[in-house]
Amino acid sequence: MVKPSTPDPTELLDPQFHAHGAPHTVWQWMRDSAPVYWHPPGQFPGFWSFTRHQDIRAVYMDPENYSSEGGVLLRPMAIGVDPGGGLTLALTDPPHHRELRAMIANWFTDRKCRRLEEVVRSRARELLSAAAEAGGCDIVHDVATPLTLSLTCHILGVDRSEESTLLDWAVEAFDDGRSLAAHPGFMSCMHDLMERRLVAPEQDLMSRLVHGEAGGRLLTEDEVLLNCENLVGATENAGLSLAAGILAFIKHPDQWERLTRDPAMMVTAVDEVLRWASSATHSMRTVRQRMVVHGKTLVPGDRVVLWLPSANRDERAFMHPHRFDITRRPNRHLALGAGEHVCIGAALARVQTSVLLQELMRSEFALELIESVSPLASLAVNGPARMPVRMGSATVTAGG
Ligand code: HEM
Repeated sequence: MVKPSTPDPTELLDPQFHAHGAPHTVWQWMRDSAPVYWHPPGQFPGFWSFTRHQDIRAVYMDPENYSSEGGVLLRPMAIGVDPGGGLTLALTDPPHHRELRAMIANWFTDRKCRRLEEVVRSRARELLSAAAEAGGCDIVHDVATPLTLSLTCHILGVDRSEESTLLDWAVEAFDDGRSLAAHPGFMSCMHDLMERRLVAPEQDLMSRLVHGEAGGRLLTEDEVLLNCENLVGATENAGLSLAAGILAFIKHPDQWERLTRDPAMMVTAVDEVLRWASSATHSMRTVRQRMVVHGKTLVPGDRVVLWLPSANRDERAFMHPHRFDITRRPNRHLALGAGEHVCIGAALARVQTSVLLQELMRSEFALELIESVSPLASLAVNGPARMPVRMGSATVTAGG
């Protein structure tokens, strides 16, 4: 009898495996048999993989022992450390992180995002109408990414006339898997906006970044620019989650029908989309204190990689985790992280997801996949790289 082979966790280091392999099979094996798994140094620094929901949540909730300053994403050793270390919201530790977050949190509260709902709706309508007029579109590049980028631009204070150029640059950087901070056009556009707000502040986030204080001091130019990059960079994640959500409904027409019958289910549906998509593939931390987890000894300087799609399909935390179920409650997913670094754009992500779904429902566009969806090859984010659909009338249908 042939013994079934043990899944190989080293495959998780290959971006192509995330697109065309079976990462969920590997993660399931790791959750059951090796919940804390050591990957020796190679292309990446050595690191521990965490795959269980409870363990991942515990790391997020303990920023004193698990630092973000050394980077929150795996980077090949050849590229070196993240230049945003110690400077951006994502890459700072308490107490500076709290001061920085307090300075900008006001732009992302539930109330602020609810007030933005009409802006979201009008942008979603524009994008969907243009796509319908053309008879179809690529949901990722023509609807999801522009929608979310446009909202971040709105909050930052970027002029609408500059949005499409910014979108082109962002897509260029995302497609090459490069950081936006390395894009000269993008950084110079942010620099211009920063200079304008320096002399003439307005009611936008850029003005706050330029004139606000964190820990009793103004931010440096680098801090302002890298924080803008951090916010706009989140567009990729948010766009992928929106597209993956639409794809989930195309593949589960019963769930779409249920939502259209009872739109009050939108609140639980949005969280199920976030859980299902888990568009952020991992977060990383650096260990500060020696500790033992599941019998493994972690020492200061060790890296810990938290695999979020694994946490969100952990049988210990979710009933029938591989089922897309818009009525799921409770739904304590970790798609947006947890603890003090929990996604600052969480309310915005929820508003844009619900509005986009509502607009699809209202317009009764039939979305039909016209070719199979090509998944993104990346260790950092996941979702459809392209999602070409035909758009007719009636309801969202499966196809392709
Ligand atoms: C569905 C969409 C989104 C997903 C899945 C997502 C996911 C995440 C996750 C997992 C984290 C925690 C990272 C860590 O602790 O290492 C995070 C943090 C963050 N997100 Fe999001 N995000 C989304 C949308 C957004 C949007 C729309 C924005 C901005 C407009 C944004 C901006 C940020 C920022 C600035 C942080 C760092 C917060 C901090 O460290 O205090 N995200 N996000």
